[in-house]
Amino acid sequence: MKVDGKVVVVTGGGRGIGRALAERFAAEGAARVVVADLDLEPAERVAAAIGGVGRRCDVGDQDQLLALIEETEREVGPIGLFCSNAAVFGGGGATANLETTSPATWDASWRVNVMAHVWAARALLPRMVERGGGYFLQTLSAAGLITGPSALSYTVTKHAGVGFAEWLAINHRHQGIGVSCLCPTAVATDALTGANAGTASDAAADEAIRRNIGLIQTPEEVAEITVEGLARESFLILPNPRVGSSFRRKGEDYDGWLDRTASRVTGMREA
Ligand SMILES: NC(=O)c1ccc[n+]([C@@H]2O[C@H](COP(=O)([O-])OP(=O)(O)OC[C@H]3O[C@@H](n4cnc5c(N)ncnc54)[C@H](O)[C@@H]3O)[C@@H](O)[C@H]2O)c1
Repeated sequence: MKVDGKVVVVTGGGRGIGRALAERFAAEGAARVVVADLDLEPAERVAAAIGGVGRRCDVGDQDQLLALIEETEREVGPIGLFCSNAAVFGGGGATANLETTSPATWDASWRVNVMAHVWAARALLPRMVERGGGYFLQTLSAAGLITGPSALSYTVTKHAGVGFAEWLAINHRHQGIGVSCLCPTAVATDALTGANAGTASDAAADEAIRRNIGLIQTPEEVAEITVEGLARESFLILPNPRVGSSFRRKGEDYDGWLDRTASRVTGMREA
């Protein structure tokens, strides 16, 4: 799948990975990139720098998401690549558990991390099929493939997001619909800093991440790997190769993987 010549929408495009994806898609020759974000100011700033369009949109609100799609198709052009990238992180990072995750956090996590992907696909699929094809890029997480120390609601809804992406790929491939699932580990964005807040000093938190998952990547590195993955039309795009080996070990020996992960996560909590 080549981004060149396509109208692209990136949700959560005002900052972090979404910003880097929007910039990279523009550099790859996208016809136009629509940068949608809860916050209009960063969306407009990113859009202005790449000749794109900035839009305010809370993707957790179905009406706003549908309006974004309608306006883009009407005013910019037929969407060739829709990137569901915005997420709710679950509050409290690794410390967010059954007791501390509020009903409001659960609700927002389902709406933004899962239903926004479903609503976008439901609105776009018939149009894409009629045009002979289209592509969905869902930013999920390694936490959606292999449970680790991430927040409870984040882990559960990212798994659901991977499930929906798989379903979409399997059921609509024959109609020319492509799906890729971007599953990063740790990327140096505001979200990572926020998730670490209150757990340790930033430096200590970064060190713990490097020890546990090997590396912290930049949003630009992730965008580069994403463009390569899209070109191959890989379903799973894994910026950190360690995730692929952990996912394989989980598939080969689920119980053994669960034992080892439980010990590791308990050790991390006690450290
Ligand atoms: N940073 C990481 O370490 C990491 C790791 C794995 C996966 N991810 C995933 O990457 C994606 C982007 O994360 P990031 O680290 O760039 O986050 P970020 O916080 O740096 O940027 C997220 C952007 O999304 C916007 N946003 C939040 N809620 C929104 C909503 N309801 N509607 C529209 N926009 C909204 C925010 O305003 C912000 O501009 C997420 O799906 C996240 O789960 C991030």
